[in-house]
Amino acid sequence: MSDYNNAIEVKPLPSYERVGAALPLWTYGNEELLELEYQAFFLNSWQMVGHTSELKKPGDFITFDMWRDSVIVVRGKDQVIRAFLNVCRHRAMRLLDGKGNCGGAIQCPYHGWTYHNDGTLLAVTQAENFPDVDKSTLGLQEVGLRVYRGHVFVNVCGGGASVEDTLGAVSQEIDLYAPETYEPLQEPTFEIWNCNWKLAWDNYQENYHIPIGHPCLHRMVESTEEGVEFSGGFNYGYFAMREKFSKVPQERRYQELMPCTDHRFPAGKGRKWLQLALDPNMGIEYYPDLFALFQVLPLGVDKTLIKISTYSPPNLSAEEKEMQAINLALLDEVNDQDKTLVERIQSGVNTSGYQPGPLALEESSVYSFHERVRELIPVTRLPKAPLRGTLHQENERLK
Ligand code: FES
Ligand SMILES: [Fe+2]
Repeated sequence: MSDYNNAIEVKPLPSYERVGAALPLWTYGNEELLELEYQAFFLNSWQMVGHTSELKKPGDFITFDMWRDSVIVVRGKDQVIRAFLNVCRHRAMRLLDGKGNCGGAIQCPYHGWTYHNDGTLLAVTQAENFPDVDKSTLGLQEVGLRVYRGHVFVNVCGGGASVEDTLGAVSQEIDLYAPETYEPLQEPTFEIWNCNWKLAWDNYQENYHIPIGHPCLHRMVESTEEGVEFSGGFNYGYFAMREKFSKVPQERRYQELMPCTDHRFPAGKGRKWLQLALDPNMGIEYYPDLFALFQVLPLGVDKTLIKISTYSPPNLSAEEKEMQAINLALLDEVNDQDKTLVERIQSGVNTSGYQPGPLALEESSVYSFHERVRELIPVTRLPKAPLRGTLHQENERLK
């Protein structure tokens, strides 16, 4: 396998004393730009697609859909986990959906070509129809795969900062949550948000909206001083329970129960939520009682798929399970609030003549994300959208 790390230097960024301007609003509604963003950010990124606990036996597979691309991750009979484009080599039929066990082989639902679970071509239907076929050249096309402490990542085009450089930079923090022990909790949920993908991602990255946008979170937790932003396009931070209990019974109950998770952590290291935001689209959330992945996947210029996957630490006590149930309900509540907020912003971004205001220091992660967009796609520095049909050309000119 080739080296998928394009030598992106990942190092802590100095904290901002002031932040510059956000992206111009035309960038939230431009089809031609979305094409460039998809190539620059999504195809060249490591996407978390699942966990090794879903791939225990040969033939176990998971699929991951990202706009027009789809990937299969499957454990072969040699026990190796591999990732392939989810496309038949004959005439591009999508092969598998969801997750499950394909047994020893994957059969194409169109003309029935079959592939071993290690991706090699097993059989061509009516082989006499293909006098010159060389089966050894027609296996499924392999793409990059990495397993990091049980989390499974794929990379369709092979660019971007490596998982080792991003999550690895905070490995000590992640290790405390022992993610390799996780088991699936709920089936992933999928929601369509009527917004540009960047609005969902901007919103995920800043905590400035919490007091007004998420009163439940504001009553329960406060962000701590710990946490760093890195140049490779990611940041992390912690939330700790407020000393003052919430007046809302479920929220208070969660706060009260928190000490029951102490046995999972070295003294003084638990009772916190660790959240990582990994450009362009992954919120990676370690709670003492569960793990959640918030994934933003474009479907169109103002349509975005939000995928939420949850996993559980093993052997939870009754009290830990109670916390987990409260937390799942809380994640739903917060997510609904974010959907409403972000869709309301989308309805504002196309307002004629509107002039945006400044970003807060607490929104510096939004600013640094926007700086990355401007760096990778220079046409986004223009105050106005280029004329229809000229954006790609203009972007090349500005490079
Ligand atoms: S497209 Fe798969 S067998 Fe024809
Ligand atoms: Fe939010």
